[in-house]
Amino acid sequence: MTVSVSAAGEGFLYDRVSRHILDLVEKGTLKPGDRAPSLRGLSRQLRVSITTVNQAYAALQQLGVLRVRPQSGYYVDAQVSHSQGSQVPRKTTVSRQPRKVRFGELFEEIFSVANDPQVVPLGAAVPAIELMPVKGLLRATQRAATRQPERAMSYCFPPGDEELRHEIARRYMDLGLSVDPASVVITSGCSEALALSLQTVTRRGDIVAVESPTYFSVLRLIERMGLLAVEIDSDPETGLCLDALEAAIETMEIKAVVAVLNFSNPLGSVMPDAGKRRLVAMLEQANIALIEDDIYGDLHFGEQRPAIAKSFDQKGLVLTCSSFSKTIAPGYRIGWVIADRYRDDLIEWKQATSSAMCSLPQIAMADYLRSGAYERHLVRLRSAYRSQVEKMRFMLARTLPAGTRITNPQGGFVLWVELPRGIDALELVNRALQERISLTPGMMFSATRKFRNFVRINCGHPWDAQIEKAVERLGELVRQMMAENG
Ligand SMILES: Cc1ncc(COP(=O)(O)O)c(C=O)c1O
Repeated sequence: MTVSVSAAGEGFLYDRVSRHILDLVEKGTLKPGDRAPSLRGLSRQLRVSITTVNQAYAALQQLGVLRVRPQSGYYVDAQVSHSQGSQVPRKTTVSRQPRKVRFGELFEEIFSVANDPQVVPLGAAVPAIELMPVKGLLRATQRAATRQPERAMSYCFPPGDEELRHEIARRYMDLGLSVDPASVVITSGCSEALALSLQTVTRRGDIVAVESPTYFSVLRLIERMGLLAVEIDSDPETGLCLDALEAAIETMEIKAVVAVLNFSNPLGSVMPDAGKRRLVAMLEQANIALIEDDIYGDLHFGEQRPAIAKSFDQKGLVLTCSSFSKTIAPGYRIGWVIADRYRDDLIEWKQATSSAMCSLPQIAMADYLRSGAYERHLVRLRSAYRSQVEKMRFMLARTLPAGTRITNPQGGFVLWVELPRGIDALELVNRALQERISLTPGMMFSATRKFRNFVRINCGHPWDAQIEKAVERLGELVRQMMAENG
């Protein structure tokens, strides 16, 4: 069969070629020791240049998938196991009971080691600072401080710096969306964007629908705000299951839905456009607010950035939250909400809780965005995250025992790993931490403490010997636990 690579999707051509070979290996069509297609043959078959195939094969050699035998060609590495980790975790099914959420010290434990250089950072979803545009942002910060010292040192009141709001609104034009800078409210990271949005659209005791698994800080907010969480089944590829949500809406009074529709955390799922359209229409009919967290939206591995639910919003019921924490600088704490009809209420919450915000980082961020450097930086960053995710996925699949399932996200930088049944992920996390390896246990992503045999793995750091050793050690720890279980 002839496959046209350009028709098979977007992305760098050589990435598509390597993905094609990885697919063949994962499906078992190419087995360990098998000869891979020749450069010339594959170039003809996929209608790409020999140079492109060569580039792809070099990347696959680095991944440890292919080995070259002089005078003979490329072969699948004998160590490659196609069956391990090739399957993604199954769709979740949860009981749809609204629940109070309780979280204890787990949060503190995970975050206390997030910045410890002695700990291998596979836990918190934090990018390596070396991947961030440090120089460009510092230059912009210096310019802001020297050219506008008075403005930089003064209070900046909600809704935030006008130029920054303008730059943020302007970026949505690329999505075919016209966002009024006046409806953008600057926040302290996406965390505050989510908190203010929830405060604006709910009251104590209200029910909030969330994905299952869901980003744990949302559960924490729900807990602290005295709300109830109802978990909705989610699919590792398409995210929130809309039939399940529809059924929940019919049986209980849901006030808001919080979801990461693009490259969710932890599943990495993306809801297709048709799903987003249906979701917004369904919520409009029931007058339910949608808080969409689009923090990973710019981190797509394919060429096309996925749409946001806001694009389908007719009534202004969608609050779009995001930040530059995963792309520019987590420490600048710059996030935002496109608040539309909720704008005034949301600003009141912001005024009531933090009165004003830092001026200097906002002026600097506006300057950095205006320079056009962000778009160029994103191209490099997406490519780095993509290769880190692919490498980690491959190495985990190689190291962890049969029965392990790993997601295959097309953006973002986290993996969701289902360990063989019976493995207590919390115990694994504790044992790993004793060896200075951090992981996030699956149960943190559920109000009902599901996902006991799941962990989330951060791939935000470039691959190195320390990470490689940690992944190998994880494999040993899991095997050890399996042996102890008998
Ligand atoms: C889905 C999601 N939303 C929000 C946040 C928090 O973002 P910020 O650091 O900008 O507050 C994170 C960080 O991990 C996240 O993964």
